[in-house]
Amino acid sequence: MPPCPGYGRNEAAPRPDGTAVAPYRAANAVGCGGSERVTTPTIEVDDLGRDFGGFRAVDGLSFAVPAGTVFGFLGPNGSGKTTTIRLLLGLLEPSRGRATVFGHDSRLGADEIRRRSGALLEHPGLYERLTAEENLDFFGRAWRLSERERLERGQELLRHLGLWERRRERVGAWSRGQRQKLAIARVLLHRPELIFLDEPTAGLDPVASASLRHDIAALAGREGRTVFLTTHNLAEAEQLCGLVGVIRRGRLLALGHPDELRARAGGPRAEIVARGLDAAMLARVRDRPEVATAELRDGRLLLDLRAGADVAAIVALLVGGGAAVEEVRRGAATLEEAFLGLMKETR
Ligand SMILES: Nc1ncnc2c1ncn2[C@@H]1O[C@H](COP(=O)(O)OP(=O)(O)OP(=O)(O)O)[C@@H](O)[C@H]1O
Ligand SMILES: [Mg+2]
Repeated sequence: MPPCPGYGRNEAAPRPDGTAVAPYRAANAVGCGGSERVTTPTIEVDDLGRDFGGFRAVDGLSFAVPAGTVFGFLGPNGSGKTTTIRLLLGLLEPSRGRATVFGHDSRLGADEIRRRSGALLEHPGLYERLTAEENLDFFGRAWRLSERERLERGQELLRHLGLWERRRERVGAWSRGQRQKLAIARVLLHRPELIFLDEPTAGLDPVASASLRHDIAALAGREGRTVFLTTHNLAEAEQLCGLVGVIRRGRLLALGHPDELRARAGGPRAEIVARGLDAAMLARVRDRPEVATAELRDGRLLLDLRAGADVAAIVALLVGGGAAVEEVRRGAATLEEAFLGLMKETR
């Protein structure tokens, strides 16, 4: 069985003394799967379910993630996200249904799935008594990277993540965010085709989070890798994900591009900042057929519009009424609003 660093405290992991060396060649993983990228989705889940005792943690999930996509798996605490990742990696047996990754059934092909994947789960999976450099060297050996690859890739990642100066320090004394960065370096070390990131920016400062988001986008965009991301940061999901699945109590509530989910949450909106807005003007705006709702708040006019609405006509109406318009912003519901709407609907 391949090593599962960070896959869970109870899972088999390589020991720092090297007694459980991985039976796979990571170098083969680099650049694999070109044909799958074009034809088969990297992940396919069909009526997948997992019970713990009588409790349904994952309940009839069906979805597919095309290769090269950043898939955002969103849901409240305890909704089944981490359990789904563990099912996909073959770390848990499904109670019902099927998960297929790279065309391999997770029950039968877990070794191959893990060989071609990297995973950052809830536990960072680092050896606290080793230095940062030693940790990466150790995992590089487990992935059977050559000495040169270990050195070069380790150096590249440590520098990139801003850990180079601290490479000779023991990880045990590091802050949560610093460990998280090193754990990300561990995940990317063998250049996996599929990367599971379970709340990767939790505990990172805003600069480090933005930098990681940039890296994730580059991994999927430039390098064509597939990323399975869970996050409670919905702005992050909106920015990064080409496909989003929303889960609650183990069931999939919605699946689509963030724009589709936002569009489903409501029509277009506009916000007009102006001086001299009054109740009479508000009443005239409300009378217009393209305006679904209009509200005046702190000198801003907030509008929910119907599809195809002409904001210029509304601005002209305000100016004609004597208002001084300073700013007009158009937009739609945010992913966060769409998410909260879904949670309310299914309460
Ligand atoms: N090994 C287990 N034994 C019993 N119950 C479990 C086990 N693993 C998970 N569960 C339960 O399954 C449900 C889903 O847990 P999971 O960790 O998948 O949630 P999550 O969506 O990742 O939540 P969070 O956002 O808090 O990380 C929870 O109610 C949890 O208690
Ligand atoms: Mg979780």
